[in-house]
This record gives sequence, structure tokens and C-alpha cells, in this order.
Amino acid sequence: MIVFNSIEEFNKAKENFDSLSFVPTMGNLHRGHISLIDNAKEYKNKVIASIYINKLQFNDSNDYLNYPKTIEDDINILEKHGCDYVLIPDESIIENILNIKAPSKSNKLCGQSRPGHFNGVLTILNKFFQIIDPEIVFFGKKDYQQFVLVRDFILDNNLNIKIVGVDTVREDSGLALSSRNNLLSNQEKIIATELYKALKDIAINKTNLNSNLINLKKDHLKSLGINVDYLISCDPDSFEECYKINKKDILVAIAAYVGKIRLIDNIKLTKL
Ligand code: PAJ
Repeated sequence: MIVFNSIEEFNKAKENFDSLSFVPTMGNLHRGHISLIDNAKEYKNKVIASIYINKLQFNDSNDYLNYPKTIEDDINILEKHGCDYVLIPDESIIENILNIKAPSKSNKLCGQSRPGHFNGVLTILNKFFQIIDPEIVFFGKKDYQQFVLVRDFILDNNLNIKIVGVDTVREDSGLALSSRNNLLSNQEKIIATELYKALKDIAINKTNLNSNLINLKKDHLKSLGINVDYLISCDPDSFEECYKINKKDILVAIAAYVGKIRLIDNIKLTKL
């Protein structure tokens, strides 16, 4: 695996590359990220990952400063899983960067409590797309809103990129893997499994999908000491609140604080 520590290094080598499959990350890699690499490996292209903790997408400077950094381990993991190249740019990547404004649906779900977050995400991804010029990009559906916004961004800007969404990788307990899970105490990790349990319960009861069902689950989570930011049944494309599961697939998405740690998860309910 070749490690590029700057855009300049990458640019020098780039002209010899064939089509690339690209997996963007912020490092602190776990099985969720690896699943993206494994998915990418199934295509004929060489696989490039990036590791960059993007300041522009953090609203909270402490969150940014405390973001776990495990670069040596990350490089070893990528190499072990057959990644061909990794780009680890320095902070000059955001100098004079073109700021992208995400569409209004970015203000829903996670955008409500993280204003500007998706502008930062699309801004850095646009830059990476310009540098790397990938043929295929891979995104996890755990961050479903991010996946949809990137998918739309590619479409709206006629970028010649195919996007692949990868299913959420979970612990046996159901807890969606996340770099933030490392910040949970053992007790909090057990409580955190309630998020996916709530989503599964809603899925089991999807024939009765309505606001009461969602509110009941919200109350249940609150009674366990979980601070629910949102739990919503919505249209998977517009993120507008919606319960019409006999008409189309529905996304049930949650963000909640377990202790001080904000976790997200979602489940897709297929149309009845
Ligand atoms: P990061 O949180 O490092 O996630 C990188 C990719 O891994 C994202 O596509 C995310 O959806 C995926 N991922 C995370 N946990 C997963 C899980 N449990 N199962 C499957 N996929 C999972 O998302 C970002 O970084 C940044 O916003 C980024 C796209 C790199 C832009 O800075």
C-alpha cells in the first residue's frame, strides 16, 4: 500500500493510475470502515482511502479536538485489508477551499442540532473528488443523511461518479459501530444498545406506523436516561416526517445522547 502524506505527493503519482474506488474516512477505523474497503475491493478498480479529520464539519471545537487519532493502527488496518493507496492530507487541503452549501434538507435530522455540518462534509468531499477523480465512492448507510446528500450532490452537479451505499455494521448487541463508541463507559455501552432495539421494535410494528408508536419509543428511551435528540419516521429522500408505509419505503432515524456521547442510527422499513 502506498501512503501519500500530501496532495502534492498524490498528484505526482496520480497520472499513472487507472480508475479508482474511493473510501473517505476520518480515521480511527473499525469494522464499519473495513466493510467499505471490502465492498470496494469487489470492484476491479484499485482502492484509495483517505484519512482526514475535517475541521469544517465539526460545530463543537472540543468534539473536533477530542476526535480519536490512531493513524498508525489505521494504516496497518488498511494495508491488511488490501487497500492500495491511502491519502492523508495536511491542513493545507482546506486553504482557499470552495465552500459548498448543502441543500435545505441538510437542516433536518442531524442538521438541526449540527448547523453547517453538512456544508463542511460536502465542502471537503468536493475537494477530495476533485483531487482523486474517483470512478466509484463508498459511503456507509449508518450516516444515512450524509449518504443521501452526497448522492444528490453527485447527481445535481453531474459528477461522473457512482456511489455505493454500504449496510451498517453492528456489534452482536446491535449497537452500530462508531468511533464514538470508544468514548462510552461499559454501562453506557449497554444502554446504547437500546437505540437499535427501539428501531427494531418500530420495524416489527410497521403495520401500525404512526406518531404514537414513535412517541412511545421516545418516552421509553427517555425513561432509560437516554436524551433523544430526534427519533423520526420520515421519507428517505426528503427527510420530511412521514408514516405512509403503504406508499413507499420509510426511514426511521435516531440521534440520542448516551451520557455525553451523541450516537446515531437508522433502519429502513420496506413498503407494505
Ligand atoms: P467517518 O465517520 O470516519 O466515516 C467514514 C465512512 O464510514 C462513512 O461513509 C460512514 O458512513 C462509514 N461508517 C461509519 N460507521 C459505519 C458502520 N457501523 N457501518 C458501515 N459504515 C460505517 O463520515 C465521515 O467519516 C466523514 O463525514 C467523511 C465522509 C469522511 C467526510 O469528512
